Amino acid sequence: MNKTKISNIPYGPYIAVIAGATVKGKPSYTTIGAYGVVSQRPVLYVSLKNTHYITQGIRENGFFSVNIPDVGLIEKTDLCGIVSGNSKDKSQVFSAFYDEAGDAPMIEECPVNYLCKVIQTIPVFDFTMFLGEIVAAYAKDQCLENGTPDAARVKPTIMMAARYFDIGEPVGRVFQSGRELAAK
Ligand SMILES: Cc1cc2nc3c(=O)[nH]c(=O)nc-3n(C[C@H](O)[C@H](O)[C@H](O)COP(=O)(O)O)c2cc1C
Repeated sequence: MNKTKISNIPYGPYIAVIAGATVKGKPSYTTIGAYGVVSQRPVLYVSLKNTHYITQGIRENGFFSVNIPDVGLIEKTDLCGIVSGNSKDKSQVFSAFYDEAGDAPMIEECPVNYLCKVIQTIPVFDFTMFLGEIVAAYAKDQCLENGTPDAARVKPTIMMAARYFDIGEPVGRVFQSGRELAAK
């Protein structure tokens, strides 16, 4: 086997997203890689360090947003992962918009936004994993293809081992690329 055993560190890849929450009556934003789908019923998770400023807002309000920044927002995306609301106000970094379904700011500049209502809270060492059912979702008109966000237009950012990347070229189709193999 042509492999080297490496450290037990999660190197990625992950999509860099920005979690949003209302904290002390103001919007706040925190960059995360620990986000994903939980079930076919539309539930997302975000995993956040207990000491992060945003974590207390999600706990208090029971809502968070997940905002998918495009690669053009890389500086602001990184900023929200460097600066803590514990020491600096991040409420003006982006323009916030809201949906009546819940109290969490969504980011106007981001092509895709999910508003989530917390349905479960799971402690994981010094982190909290919030599972949130999607109660509203938005996408910029120019990123949609037949009503669905198109990856090439959304231009999400991938992070791996301390670097950011764009998504590159499509390499296959979901539920199709494996069909020939499945038929054998
Ligand atoms: C690309 C990137 C990904 C990050 N992913 C996470 C994450 O998944 N969970 C987490 O708790 N912190 C993560 N962080 C760190 C927080 O974003 C960072 O500590 C931030 O300043 C916390 O802000 P807050 O205290 O205002 O919530 C990440 C940072 C960067 C730059």
